Amino acid sequence: YHVDWDASAAEKGGYEYFMLKEIVEQPRAVADTLLGRVGVDGTLTLDEMRLSPADLRDISKIVIIACGTSYHAGLIAKYSIEHWCRIPCEVEVASEFRYRDPILDRQTLVIAISQSGESMDTLMAVRYAREQRARVLAICNVNGSTIPRESDGVLYTHAGPEVGVAATKTFLTQLVACYLVGLYLAQVRNLKFGDEINAIIEQLANMPEQVEKVLDTVEPVRQLARSLADASTVLFLGRHVGHPVAMEGALKLKELAYMHAEAFAAGELKHGPIALIEDNLPVVVVVPSREGRSVLHDKIVSNIQEIRARGARTIVIAEEGDETVRPFADELIEIPAVPTLLQPIVATVPLQVFACELALAKGNDVDQPRNLAKSVTVE
Ligand code: G6P
Repeated sequence: YHVDWDASAAEKGGYEYFMLKEIVEQPRAVADTLLGRVGVDGTLTLDEMRLSPADLRDISKIVIIACGTSYHAGLIAKYSIEHWCRIPCEVEVASEFRYRDPILDRQTLVIAISQSGESMDTLMAVRYAREQRARVLAICNVNGSTIPRESDGVLYTHAGPEVGVAATKTFLTQLVACYLVGLYLAQVRNLKFGDEINAIIEQLANMPEQVEKVLDTVEPVRQLARSLADASTVLFLGRHVGHPVAMEGALKLKELAYMHAEAFAAGELKHGPIALIEDNLPVVVVVPSREGRSVLHDKIVSNIQEIRARGARTIVIAEEGDETVRPFADELIEIPAVPTLLQPIVATVPLQVFACELALAKGNDVDQPRNLAKSVTVE
């Protein structure tokens, strides 16, 4: 069995768990999603989409359906698609979708996001959408899986196989794929095409490097996570795209550390969640980038002050060089400054490391968390 041991160690690239390997692989995974799709002049080529520019110009509404982590990618996609393309976009968990008589027609583009391409809830929602004559685009990681086969077009994330049950690298690559779709739609529809879109495409092409930078600086996050192994609950706050990032952070903690975790939109704090704050309660706050939406940045800084005054232990994820948050952060996790809409790519990484490390400190198997399956093929 020495041979077996060697084989399994090699498979994990020398890491104890696939998940650790998959977190570290993210710069490459993100680069692979971009590969061959971004031209030197910023022109995007998304061939397998199999939806013609004419089809795409025709679209009046977008509906994103997905489950679990993929759903969070969809929530983030909404912000960029609506902003860049000015097409109304709704996001819904796939299990609810077909049971509420949703309004779909030929002008509706349904985007089904699924790592495995096999989640039964998402597949059923895709079938339902096609019956209603909507066009369906799949964003998937597993080539030739059922959802892309049953969709009109597909954009593969090319993240490589993901073995850890809880999604990591496939989430980052789903985000990249969603950005590509939004930017492509903006190009095709000629809306706002120009400086902003070009600048974003350039920044998107830079993301592998930015993710690498985050990975180079996560060591303190590991220590922090280990110190919280006995906490009974962790809250997560965010605004704008930082809200779904907070949701993903909370989900990772539930999945891996079996710990109660909940995310809130920071603006909702005063409408209830602030009553939960007590001495030493860890609260992770995702601070919006200072670019463009600095109003939100300042509002969240006030929120951090409010919860800290009530005893919370504030764990703040903010752009490097953001001195305004420092005085109110018990722990400060710095991430590179990137455009607001792209921030989830860098902000999610410390949250993955946080949950993974906390789970390891508790002695959990992070590749095979209890009660969970990599792909859920029952409704
Ligand atoms: C399961 C997995 C999650 C995943 C979700 C959706 O619950 O444990 O990690 O996010 O399914 O899977 P999909 O393959 O459709 O993205």
